[in-house]
Amino acid sequence: RIVYVNGDYLPEEEAKVSVFDRGFLMADGVYEVTSVLGGKILDFDGHAARLSRSLGELQMDAPCSDEELLAMFRELVARNEIEDGMVYLQVTRGNPGDRDFAFPPAGTAPTIVAFTQNKPGLAENPVAKTGIKVISIPDIRWGRRDIKTVQLLYPSMGKMMAKAAGADDAWMVEDGAVTEGTSNNAYIVKDGVIITRQLSEDILHGITRAAVLKFAAEAQMKIEERPFTIEEAQGADEAFITSASAFVMPVIEIDGTAIGSGTVGPVATRLREIYLAESL
Ligand code: PDD
Repeated sequence: RIVYVNGDYLPEEEAKVSVFDRGFLMADGVYEVTSVLGGKILDFDGHAARLSRSLGELQMDAPCSDEELLAMFRELVARNEIEDGMVYLQVTRGNPGDRDFAFPPAGTAPTIVAFTQNKPGLAENPVAKTGIKVISIPDIRWGRRDIKTVQLLYPSMGKMMAKAAGADDAWMVEDGAVTEGTSNNAYIVKDGVIITRQLSEDILHGITRAAVLKFAAEAQMKIEERPFTIEEAQGADEAFITSASAFVMPVIEIDGTAIGSGTVGPVATRLREIYLAESL
C-alpha cells in the first residue's frame, strides 16, 4: 500500500511518525473516514467541513485547503487502485519533541497521515440483507463527541463487549436515552416515522446521517430528531444505523429482543438504496 505522510506518498513500510507525536501520546488528533465506491469519493464536502470544524474546536489550524485534501485523496485512491474502499485521514497536533501536557507553540507542524483500505464489493455487503444485532452499554465517553477525535478506546471496548455477547455492535446509553453506536448514528422507525437523536455535543454529527435525512425528507418521509430509550427501540417497527463505512445498515435485535418482524425492514432497505443510488 502507498500511504501519505506529511506531503510524501510512500510504501507503508517506509512511512514514519515520531514517538513524541501528540496523536500517539495524547490521542491529540482528529480523523475522517470517507468511502470510495466505483473509484468515486463519497460525501467529500461533508467530511472536509467536519474536519475543519473538529480542528477548529481543538484550536488546530487546517493543514491544507479542501482542494488540496481532495487532490491528495484522489492521488491515494489512484495509486492504490481503489475501486471500492475507504480513505482514512488523521491530523494530529504534531511532534513537540518531548512529552508535555501543554499544547506545543503555535507553528508546530501538524502530522497528516492518510491511507486507503481496499473493500471490493463494499456496496453489496450481504450483511445489509440480514441486519446486525446490537447490545446496549453505558455511554461513558467524554462530553465532546461532536469532535471526531482519535480517542477510540471506549468504542473499541464497546465493540468487544458486543462480540462477547454474540452481537455485532453496541448502542451507548446516557441518562436513559441512546446517544449513538460505537462508530455510527442510531435510528428507529415507528409507524413510518424515522426517529434519531438531535445534534448536540453528545453525538458525532454524522455525514451519512445528514445525507440520509436529506434524502428521507425529499422522499416525503417523516423525521423526528429526539432522544429515544432502549425500551422504545425494542418496541419499534425497525432500527438501523448509518456511517460512512456501513452506509445504512439494518438492526434486527437489541439486547436480545427482535425488532419488528426480526428481519430487515422496508424503510432501512429503501434508505440504503436511495443513499447508494444518490452517491454513485
Ligand atoms: N465512524 N458516530 C460515531 C461515534 C462515529 O465514529 C461515526 C463514524 C459516526 C457516523 O459518522 P459518518 O456518517 O460521518 O461516518 C457516528 C467512522 C466510520 C469510523 O470511526 O470508522
